Amino acid sequence: MTDRLIDLPEWGALCSHYDELRDVELRTLFSGDPRRGETMAAEAAGLYLDYSKNRLTSETIRLLVALAEKCGLRQRIESMFSGEKINTTEDRAVLHTALRARADADVRVEGHNVVPDVHAELDRMATFATRVRDGVWRGATGEPIRFVVNIGIGGSDLGPAMATEALRAYSLDSIESFFVSNIDGADFTDVADQIEAERTLFVICSKTFGTLETLTNARTARSWLVSQLGDEAAVSKHFVAVSTNREKVSAFGIDPDNMFGFWDWVGGRYSLPSAVGLSLMLSIGADAFREMLAGFRDMDDHFREAPFERNLPVLLGLIGLWYNNFHGFETMAVLPYCQELSRFGDYLQQLDMESNGKRVSLSGAEIEWQSGPIVWGQPGTNGQHAFYQLLHQGTKIVPADFIGFSRPNHDLLEHHDLLMANMLAQAGALAFGRTSDELRAAGVGGALAPHRTFPGNRPSNVILGEELTPRSLGSLVALYEHKVFVQGSLWQVNSFDQWGVELGKELAGRIAGEVSGNPDDSLEHDSSTNRLIARYKRGRRSQ
Ligand code: F6P
Repeated sequence: MTDRLIDLPEWGALCSHYDELRDVELRTLFSGDPRRGETMAAEAAGLYLDYSKNRLTSETIRLLVALAEKCGLRQRIESMFSGEKINTTEDRAVLHTALRARADADVRVEGHNVVPDVHAELDRMATFATRVRDGVWRGATGEPIRFVVNIGIGGSDLGPAMATEALRAYSLDSIESFFVSNIDGADFTDVADQIEAERTLFVICSKTFGTLETLTNARTARSWLVSQLGDEAAVSKHFVAVSTNREKVSAFGIDPDNMFGFWDWVGGRYSLPSAVGLSLMLSIGADAFREMLAGFRDMDDHFREAPFERNLPVLLGLIGLWYNNFHGFETMAVLPYCQELSRFGDYLQQLDMESNGKRVSLSGAEIEWQSGPIVWGQPGTNGQHAFYQLLHQGTKIVPADFIGFSRPNHDLLEHHDLLMANMLAQAGALAFGRTSDELRAAGVGGALAPHRTFPGNRPSNVILGEELTPRSLGSLVALYEHKVFVQGSLWQVNSFDQWGVELGKELAGRIAGEVSGNPDDSLEHDSSTNRLIARYKRGRRSQ
């Protein structure tokens, strides 16, 4: 599909529809259809999506689905699942779905079925994780491993960090997990203060094994370990690597036998179900990890097979597009009412913003429509006491996804009922607000009335699962992976490259040589950067 998105008749039909619907209130839509809350819902892979509190009608969905069909979304989905090289700027297939394919599936990259490779690597991870967890794998001094420190950044950190936190109810008590990502030395020293070298396993996680932050932290970790244990040879018992780059792992000094691999057709931000999940597997065990993969697969199957009108990732993607491109809402909030999902917003930020934060189409032409939204959020109820004021009464409209579960992973059921009551109340308050008439009826009027009315008509989705388990987490992550894919497909961008992070890396490499160099060296940046470097050097503490 190479037509300009905004020239399509289906796009034009949505523009006209938007003009008719723009001022319609959610209150009116609900009173006009008493069954709206039942009909505007879909369910798959253990997740129930209520999208009734959105500023749309069944006609909107019909028109959005027609646009998706016209944009060739079905074909795009098949192209991705079947291993076509849809990451055109890197000339790669996009096959994170193969990471959770059944063992008897056949998914080909350049004629080679990759599924047996995926399962062989999973088996190696499982064997290793079981040895560590059972205390069979021991450190150089004979101690079993207690502390697992994942060193990685971006996709090599956010996925396993988010999931390890999310599944802490499933973690082994005798393993404590840590994540070091920032090149800020405070990140490593903070973790080093909490661990003992004799009982620590470092998992150096980097797809390229060339990322400055990760290699700097890994070198510091190695020096720290060797100085603590006084033995260079100890490295082989305390360091493993996760990467696609065997040569660089070897050059770093990690035995390739202690390396777990994946493939260039797995994007960093889509890599949680690959060996990048090793630190998670060390925490929750191989069986729970496989359960998580089954959850991913449940959503993959649904995404590939379900009609678009009932397809959860398609619905989320199209509703997001409706707000992003027609209403002009620029951000979206992710609001999990689940403390264990406290890192889910961070994870989604990379998944969505690194994937769809693009300004040119697949052909390289500048696009003339909005692409990816700004994604942000915090778990409820904390957010209610921070930024919800703006969500309810501010001048900006922020569509929100609420995520909650019927059963908690703890026994404080009273807390859980209150938590969920808050989630449901917030979605209702945003949608329906409080009018001045209602306020008057409650005895509030006069000068305070404008301050205490809530305009409402603020849209949200509610995603409700039964319980946060490895399986439901897998389904939830796959739901958002595919949502991002749906949107990127319609916006005609490549959701699988990330050239936008390169310029800053390159400039930092140049400035790194200058900040530690001779104070009298002349600098050839802009006047602001020159001045800031000079000032930094004057205040800098040398080694
Ligand atoms: O920030 C850019 C990026 O390439 C991400 O896409 C990636 O997840 C992260 O850096 C880490 O890369 P690597 O796993 O190669 O160290």
